[in-house]
Amino acid sequence: MAKTYLITGASRGIGLELVRQLAGRGETVLGTARRPEDAAELRAIAGVTVLKLDVASEASIREMAAGLGGRSVDVLINNAGISSKTSTMEACSFAALSEVFVTNSFAPVAVTREVRACLRAAHPGLAAAGSGVRVVNITSVLGSMAMHHRGFSYGYCASKAALNMLTQKLSDELAAELPGSCTVALHPGWVQTDMGGPQAPLTVQQAATTIIKTIDGLKPEQTGAYLNTDGTGLPW
Ligand SMILES: NC(=O)c1ccc[n+]([C@@H]2O[C@H](COP(=O)([O-])OP(=O)(O)OC[C@H]3O[C@@H](n4cnc5c(N)ncnc54)[C@H](OP(=O)(O)O)[C@@H]3O)[C@@H](O)[C@H]2O)c1
Repeated sequence: MAKTYLITGASRGIGLELVRQLAGRGETVLGTARRPEDAAELRAIAGVTVLKLDVASEASIREMAAGLGGRSVDVLINNAGISSKTSTMEACSFAALSEVFVTNSFAPVAVTREVRACLRAAHPGLAAAGSGVRVVNITSVLGSMAMHHRGFSYGYCASKAALNMLTQKLSDELAAELPGSCTVALHPGWVQTDMGGPQAPLTVQQAATTIIKTIDGLKPEQTGAYLNTDGTGLPW
């Protein structure tokens, strides 16, 4: 049976391709964009519902969630993200760090909170089918302290590390409320997008195919995990 996916940051890059592939296999897909009027590629995908959402605004998140009217959402993919020009401590103004933390770390928590009623609405049916709600926060290997990647910005790396911890916190609360749910932080791979650049080894098509396969295979016991694109664990 078709599931309902809500995907943030679907105007371009990984989010757009996730929408394309999921809609292509017959899922019900709600794709969000900051400016739907400019998201021509997203709007052109047959069957997709385009919702307006600026994840950096709590008012916008509340408005988007209110527009859902409590409909079921089986899978939430918090994908919207930005890079950060904070490669030195001089560049780490409160404003610069706040911007990247709001979008990459705080917004996934706020979106999950505001669509909680929709996840709850999906729960009984999914639980009866032996499955559960999925919340997937798109993180990065650059958020791994254990891997200690050098040369990347303070803001981006720290915001993804914070997202990893916030994912673990969300997973505890959601697992208690929605048994069988699975909430993970998932690294998409290094992907040819505006953010990843043309030298990245993965096309968006390859990345989205692998991400979807991994989401399809998520099990409740993986909740709280920090995963690579293929579903294997990453060191924190
Ligand atoms: N590409 C990689 O190699 C790579 C590697 C690791 C992790 N990631 C993560 O993967 C996710 C997707 O990245 P990508 O490579 O697809 O990046 P991208 O091509 O730059 O696309 C970013 C998407 O996020 C949206 N977005 C940014 N700020 C937003 C906001 N305030 N409200 C709503 N939407 C917002 C953008 O919308 P607009 O069009 O409105 O700007 C766009 O749709 C991000 O979380 C990123 O950190 C990417």
